Amino acid sequence: MTVESVRPLTPETATELREPPLAGGALPGLGHGLKLVRDPLAFMSGLRDHGDVVRLKLGPKTVYAVTTPELTGALALSPDFKIDGPLWESLEGLLGKEGVATANGPRHRRQRRTIQPAFRLDAIPDYGPVMEEEAHALTERWRPGETVDCTSESFRVAVRIAARCLLRGEYMDERAERLSVDLATVFRGMYRRMVIPLGPLYRLPFPANREFNRALADLHLLVDEIVAERRASGQKPDDLLTALLEAKDDNGEPIGEQEIHDQVVAILTPGSETVASTIMWLLQVLAEHPEHAEKVRTEVESVTGGRPVGFPHVRSLTHTNNVVVEAMRLRPAVWILTRRAVTDTALGDYRIPAGADIVYSPYAIQRDARSYDRHLDFDPDRWLPERAAQVPKYAMSPFSVGNRKCPSDHFSMAQLSLITAAVSAKYRFEQVAGSDDSTRVGITLRPHNLLLRPMPW
Ligand code: HEM
Repeated sequence: MTVESVRPLTPETATELREPPLAGGALPGLGHGLKLVRDPLAFMSGLRDHGDVVRLKLGPKTVYAVTTPELTGALALSPDFKIDGPLWESLEGLLGKEGVATANGPRHRRQRRTIQPAFRLDAIPDYGPVMEEEAHALTERWRPGETVDCTSESFRVAVRIAARCLLRGEYMDERAERLSVDLATVFRGMYRRMVIPLGPLYRLPFPANREFNRALADLHLLVDEIVAERRASGQKPDDLLTALLEAKDDNGEPIGEQEIHDQVVAILTPGSETVASTIMWLLQVLAEHPEHAEKVRTEVESVTGGRPVGFPHVRSLTHTNNVVVEAMRLRPAVWILTRRAVTDTALGDYRIPAGADIVYSPYAIQRDARSYDRHLDFDPDRWLPERAAQVPKYAMSPFSVGNRKCPSDHFSMAQLSLITAAVSAKYRFEQVAGSDDSTRVGITLRPHNLLLRPMPW
């Protein structure tokens, strides 16, 4: 990012700024809404042809889309933009208003300080044994030749790892199972409610609404149970839950019950769907690219000497890590992000008014032919150091940058590489009849219904 990208607005600079162009293809009355709903990925990917920053008309509303790596970096790093807008408002309504993912300003800074130690690079090795156990348990559950439902299996392992590592305790084993079922249902329903906001219709007693409400209520109940049991146990293990229970507000007072609850929800929810979706894509990649599956297997074998792969091996698994990064490039779990301008400001040469909603797509940025040679090819070697150095800054930021950057980048990468290594060491994969690996657009991107058959090597 250049300093010019986040120009402060002075009377001199303000006159030089332009209004971003309107993206082409708006329909009278509907604007770009229909295109966005019909094929959001193609729509977002085409916007850079219209400008670095473009205006979109969604019904009567104007939304600004940022399309270049440089300006998405500038957006994420500038204090002139905060987390807000329709996406966040609907999340808050369902998941709580006091968690880190939706807070802004001093509360957000305080909450980040509380959770950050649990995700620091030097904290991750402590989670190694749980990650190893869960990765190997996954491969032991699967039977050679029998169909694996990758959606439920990926959710299961992601939730189990997050819950067991961060909210530590034996009771988590059974709870993690319930959490994974609830979260899968809640995410499905949340996306529907965000894209098709039918308000009161979602309160009618249709089976889908009842299932959603039951799962959401159980999720909140589970979190209350976890907090109550930890308190009753009198134990204070060195984990994220203890950090949350002992956190103080800006006046040095213990934080309220609602904030503790919302914080646990705000960590478990982004932590499960994102990792689960990425695991699904990794399994899809191993089935689609047997040559890379084979290369991962031989790398794991040479690093481990044929022993079960463990957490300490991960840093030596170069190709495996590159497979994970390349899968995240082409299928980023978080495919769309939004911000709201808190003041009149500028992005590049463009004027952005206070209150404007801004949107950008890591999916579009990470697949752009202007940033990547053979941009749609699955090519893990593009992450070898000499080639990775050619990638423009912010053209690959699946965890974002700046003060809202995902706290869990190290935690996530460690488990994703370990899982990829563990499953590839034992199996190669084939898609079975009925499997559908086309992209399902929801809160995250994942395959519609990935069904794989693990086969021994
Ligand atoms: C925020 C991606 C895993 C917890 C974010 C953001 C991204 C992201 C892009 C920034 C959102 C924004 O800028 O508006 C991912 C990806 C993951 C992953 C790609 C895995 C493949 C996790 C896990 C956890 C987690 C495992 C927790 C266990 C959070 C939290 C935030 C966040 C709490 C909000 C941070 C804040 O607003 O300060 N994540 N995430 N994420 N993520 Fe992750």
